[in-house]
This record gives sequence, structure tokens and C-alpha cells, in this order.
Amino acid sequence: MQTRTLGTTGPQTSALGLGCMGMSALYGDSDRAESLATIHAALDAGITLLDTGDFYGMGHNELLINEALRTAPAAAREKALTSVKFGALRTVEGGFSGYDGRPAAVKNFAAYSLQRLGTDHIDIYRIARVDPDVPIEETVGAIAELVAAGHVRHIGLSEVGADTLRRAAAVAPIADLQIEYSLISRGIEDAILPTARELGIGITAYGVLSRGLISGHFTRDRKLAANDFRGMSPRFQGDNLDRNLDLVDALRKIADQKGISVAQTAIAWVLSRGEDIVPLVGARRRDRLTEALGALDVTLDAADLTAIEQAIPAGAAAGDRYPAVQMAHLDSEH
Ligand SMILES: NC(=O)c1ccc[n+]([C@@H]2O[C@H](COP(=O)([O-])OP(=O)(O)OC[C@H]3O[C@@H](n4cnc5c(N)ncnc54)[C@H](OP(=O)(O)O)[C@@H]3O)[C@@H](O)[C@H]2O)c1
Repeated sequence: MQTRTLGTTGPQTSALGLGCMGMSALYGDSDRAESLATIHAALDAGITLLDTGDFYGMGHNELLINEALRTAPAAAREKALTSVKFGALRTVEGGFSGYDGRPAAVKNFAAYSLQRLGTDHIDIYRIARVDPDVPIEETVGAIAELVAAGHVRHIGLSEVGADTLRRAAAVAPIADLQIEYSLISRGIEDAILPTARELGIGITAYGVLSRGLISGHFTRDRKLAANDFRGMSPRFQGDNLDRNLDLVDALRKIADQKGISVAQTAIAWVLSRGEDIVPLVGARRRDRLTEALGALDVTLDAADLTAIEQAIPAGAAAGDRYPAVQMAHLDSEH
């Protein structure tokens, strides 16, 4: 397995990470046995980075990872790195009701996560969204105390802009920024990515397949469950969906010429954007994981990159990457 290092202070990880969110939440129902088999297959293939959030299925995702690690061979378990997001507040009905980044809350969230994960430390810990009522210095300062106490190894951030990156990095070393980055979500290129590079902060890129939209497997007539985020996502609606799938068709021509899949092309493109970027793939089935891993063997030369850029120019996506109410929570978009 190829490896990359997260920032100047972060851990070495597999070049692809596994994002486990879809195994518990947001993309409709998933199959528990297949989810566990997918995590095991990922570890077996050499993936070391497992990304989760305590609010993915209100603890469900962490308990799933606990079970997967407990039942994995010891060697794989020892190499595995947990990357955990906290701070999102949930309702009994499953809604989101805000964010809590107060220091006491950070330590409370961590205590519960450690218990659910069944580990004595979290490798990378980050607040999912900045709490608008708590300065980032206080939230990061609380994680730094967890690092000092040995409960957390590294501090990460999620969906923050360049100013917040600087403020956080002034408090403690930051390993990585987790943020959406794909052929159709290139917002980080102007200010956030250059700032992360200047500060020696790595990137864990999520949504590299834009939640399946640019995977090559998403079809216009796909029926989504009521609890599927994509049913509310602007990019999956009506004319936007048509225009975005037209972009996928353009990408498919390039993929076909290279004899690789659309998903592999999209993941390989993110991998090609810098050694400091680790794509998190959201596979929740072994066949999808196998396809994603194939991206590691893809080389995109200058002609390929030019063709891809022509097929999907920056800013070509139709629709925002989140519904308006969630866009408002993104420090990275302000
Ligand atoms: N920090 C944040 O704010 C944030 C936000 C979102 C996610 N994340 C993290 O990033 C991870 C990845 O995000 P994501 O799930 O949105 O990413 P993604 O990889 O863009 O999308 C995953 C979806 O794409 C579809 N897909 C089709 N072919 C695939 C293939 N070969 N490999 C993988 N997926 C394929 C699957 O949908 P079907 O199974 O329906 O076909 C899968 O559920 C999450 O699991 C989570 O850990 C972080």
C-alpha cells in the first residue's frame, strides 16, 4: 500500500482512507455484515485510516468500527488509525440541531467516543463544524489537552477556511484539514489549500466521488430512501442532476480510453493533486472498495489531466454541495 503523511506533524497513513459514514447514516440503509466485511477488506488491503464521526448514526458508526477492529487480525488492528469528528448535536428524530465546541463538551464527546471505539486513544480528533459561539482557539485548546493526557494523538480540523486554519495552527500543531475536494468541488484551491500547505497541514479529502454523483454508478432514475442526504442535496436535484451527469458522461469518455472506471479516474485525479492529500473513499461494499483501490494503480499524465480539465472545468458543477441551511455552517465557505 502506498503511503502519505498528513502534514508536517501528522501520522503516516495509507494513500487512501476509508470513510465509514455511509455504513451508518446519510446514504439510506446499509448492510451491517457487508460493512464489517468492507472494513476488514480495507485493512487487509493495507488501508490504515478509518474516518468516522460520533454523530454518524449517533454512535452506531463508532460501535461498528469497534467490532471491525476487535474481529480483525491483531497486526491490522495495531496499524489502524481512527479519525473521529465530534461536535454535531443530534435530535431523537435524527435531525441536526447545532454544534458544541466548548472545552467541557469536547472532553465529554471524547470520553464517549473512546468507550464506543474500545480504544485507549483516538488518532486524529476534530470538530465537524466550527461552533459559532466558541472561538476555535478554545476548542482546539481542549483537544490539545486531550493530546497532552494521551487520549488523542493528533488534532485535525473539518470544513474550515484559511483564517480559522491560521488561528487553530497558532494554538497547537494541526495534522490535517478534512474538507470536500473533488473534480466538481474545487473551492479549496484558491485560498484554503495554499494556506494549509504554507502551515504544513495535510488534507483528507472527502466526497471525492461527490457522494456517488461522479462515481459513474449514479443514474438519473435512481430512487433514494427518505433518509438519504442526496435526496436533499442541490446537486442531485432535477436540472442540476442532469447537468452534473452530463459532466460524468464527458469523464467516462476519458476513463474508457484509459480502460479504467469513472470512479477510479475521479479518485486518481484527487490523488494527483498533491502528496499532501489523502482521499477518503466512502465505499460501503467490497466491490466498491476494490474499484476504489484500483485508483492507486492509475497514472494520469499531462495529456490525461488536460483532457479531464476540459471535460470538467473548475466550477462546472450545477448546484451547491450542501443545502442552504448546511452551507451556512461551513466556515470554509465564508
Ligand atoms: N468532514 C466532513 O464534513 C465530512 C462530510 C462528509 C463525509 N465525510 C467523511 O468522508 C467519507 C467519504 O465521504 P463520502 O461518503 O461522501 O464520499 P464519496 O466517496 O464521494 O461517496 C461515497 C458514495 O459513492 C458511491 N460509490 C460508487 N462507487 C464507489 C466506489 N468505487 N467507491 C466508493 N464509493 C462509491 C457509494 O454510494 P452507494 O453505496 O449508494 O452506491 C458511496 O456511498 C465519509 O465516509 C466520512 O467519513 C466527512
